[in-house]
Amino acid sequence: MSDVLLKVEKVSKKMGKRTLLSDISFELEKGKIYGFIGPNGAGKTTMMRIMTGLMHSTSGSVRIASYDVQADREKALSKVGAIIESPVFFDYMTGKQVLRNLSRLHPNIKSSDREKHIEELLERVGLDLRGDDRVKTYSLGMKQRLGIAQSMLGNPELLLLDEPSNGLDPMGMRELRDIILRLRNSENYAFFISSHLLDELQQMCDELIVIKEGTLVWKGPADQLIEEGQRLEDAFMELMGL
Ligand SMILES: Nc1ncnc2c1ncn2[C@@H]1O[C@H](COP(=O)(O)OP(=O)(O)OP(=O)(O)O)[C@@H](O)[C@H]1O
Ligand SMILES: [Mg+2]
Repeated sequence: MSDVLLKVEKVSKKMGKRTLLSDISFELEKGKIYGFIGPNGAGKTTMMRIMTGLMHSTSGSVRIASYDVQADREKALSKVGAIIESPVFFDYMTGKQVLRNLSRLHPNIKSSDREKHIEELLERVGLDLRGDDRVKTYSLGMKQRLGIAQSMLGNPELLLLDEPSNGLDPMGMRELRDIILRLRNSENYAFFISSHLLDELQQMCDELIVIKEGTLVWKGPADQLIEEGQRLEDAFMELMGL
């Protein structure tokens, strides 16, 4: 069986006269961590919105399993979780209540399994002791981890995270990184992560996909782009011609 979870084929996006994305193709495979990088305005969030069906492409396709995201959004996305904009919670609710409410909307979760699933998710993101506290008492890092738990509802195989480390302190970043690596290593999760924090990304990525002004400039195994002992930041600057 193929390990390809998601396939982006010749995706372009135009808005009026502007081309936001131009003929982008790549594949995401099981159990790998992909770093998605590019300067501000390169089109990363736009690409992730298209990958999750929040926005339609002008041409090209995104397929997950055998489903087209545009034509068959619900089926296509049943194995994909995402945090595209920072997760927004009703912060008077507890972490558990947030997950409980969202889980009701989820086609993959039987009501008899709901409480157990929620407990497991809270444990996987290190919030098991705080699940009954209101979200407004959470730190930013804890909210971010609740966002990860939310995106894991229904046990997806792939998580798309748009700048998940934004605003986190070094400790928060390390906690997030440990969670991501653990999920990849022990449960074969795949991740597609956009970030400007290149040192952070370098510590977890297997593969890199680099875009600039809406076009793909590089894709492949991270260690093919980054020379031994080199920082991703320097390899990235070279790619950008800086
Ligand atoms: N709804 C929209 N209408 C018009 N232009 C848009 C829209 N959304 C994004 N853009 C434009 O598309 C380009 C790519 O934006 P996008 O947010 O995808 O970039 P990004 O790579 O995520 O940048 P950043 O690193 O700053 O998050 C930008 O020039 C932006 O102004
Ligand atoms: Mg963005």
